[in-house]
Amino acid sequence: MSADPLDPFEAFEEAQAQGVRDPYPEWAEMRRRAPVHEVDLREEFGLDPDTEIPDLPRSYVVLSYDGVTQVLRDADTFSSSFYSDTMGAVMGHSILEMDEPEHHLYRGLIQQAFTRKALERWQDELVRPMVEAIVDEIADRGRGDLVRELTFPFPVRVIAGMLGLPAADLPQFHRWAVELISVGFDFDVGMAASQKLREYFAEQLAPRRDEPRDDLISVLAQADLEGHRLDDEAIFAFLRLLLPAGAETTYRSSSNLLFGLLTNPDQLAAVLADRSLLPQAIDEGLRWEPPLPSIARWSTADTEVDGVPMAARSVVNVNMGAANRDEKRWDRPEEFDISRPPLQHVSFALGPHTCLGMHLARMETTVAMETILDRLPKMRLDPAADDVHIRGRAFRSPRSLPVLCD
Ligand code: HEM
Repeated sequence: MSADPLDPFEAFEEAQAQGVRDPYPEWAEMRRRAPVHEVDLREEFGLDPDTEIPDLPRSYVVLSYDGVTQVLRDADTFSSSFYSDTMGAVMGHSILEMDEPEHHLYRGLIQQAFTRKALERWQDELVRPMVEAIVDEIADRGRGDLVRELTFPFPVRVIAGMLGLPAADLPQFHRWAVELISVGFDFDVGMAASQKLREYFAEQLAPRRDEPRDDLISVLAQADLEGHRLDDEAIFAFLRLLLPAGAETTYRSSSNLLFGLLTNPDQLAAVLADRSLLPQAIDEGLRWEPPLPSIARWSTADTEVDGVPMAARSVVNVNMGAANRDEKRWDRPEEFDISRPPLQHVSFALGPHTCLGMHLARMETTVAMETILDRLPKMRLDPAADDVHIRGRAFRSPRSLPVLCD
């Protein structure tokens, strides 16, 4: 992430953040007034409310825990086909945008690549050596930036390793991945990246159809569920989804957890002293600052959400970030507090589209945290660092985490 304004990482970061530092007070104020609000899509996208848009759909934002869980569990009334009308253009027809029963079949096929055994192997052969090498470098130097050096690069390298891609292709692969999700503000760049990724994945897939190797693309190429197979386009769509779904989220969630601990040194000290606190620290980080605060659905029928009427064919913005801070469910919800009693949050969603990579994400974050706690026990925010904070609207995380660790 350089200061070069043409750098796609920097351009994406600026565009997605929309200059937003902390949307939570506004969400809390709205949630206190009502669990669901009708909103103007033009304003949501930062357009003038008088802009003429033909057939502009009605739109709602759901902010309460009860409302969000109701929407996510009821996939008949709240369709994921919203994504086919938006991201489908760059992703292809991925499981993210499928409804039942199609979704169930494809998810079943893809899940074959995410076994417990595969997870253990990725942990030992891929994640741990990679994280250790990065953290050792920071330890030797006595200082470093945990975002730029660790949390930003490592999840995409893990995915490239899982797919069995040559290490030399990694910088280009990461660049295409970021360009792909830039589609919301630069359609041409997103479409070009989508095409290049398709060509690249086609080159990778063809030899594995004939001769499977020991990697995820080969498992997808061979996957079979009651005689159904994944065709090439289904595999390309999944592989394209994997980049934003798996890399962007894990990078930001592990950064947010580190930010929570670094800005609450007593809690960092508690985890250092008692590693059994790590799983609950990871979950509190996810509850407090989900990397992806909201997702979307189409409503398919006139309905009611948490007691509020909602019209059919409306865009439903499912605000998991606001739901995770619903004061009806959590005391002092704005505070990062790893000693909270365990209570399910919705950062991985719920229902049929519950995050497929949840266990992988937890494993990656656990390994990163264990390594940091082992090798950087004196880690603290660099006092010379200027105003380190979490920001963003579509995705949230700090841009850097400069630490001293000598
Ligand atoms: C902390 C990290 C992560 C968070 C917070 C997260 C969050 C989410 C959420 C909220 C959804 C639901 C999207 C929707 O229905 O609109 C989702 C779906 C998904 N996630 Fe994750 N994710 C994370 C990591 C990962 C990783 C590492 C992978 C890699 C395999 C992954 C793969 C997926 C896939 C494939 C889906 C689509 C599932 C479906 O539609 O059935 N995610 N994730």
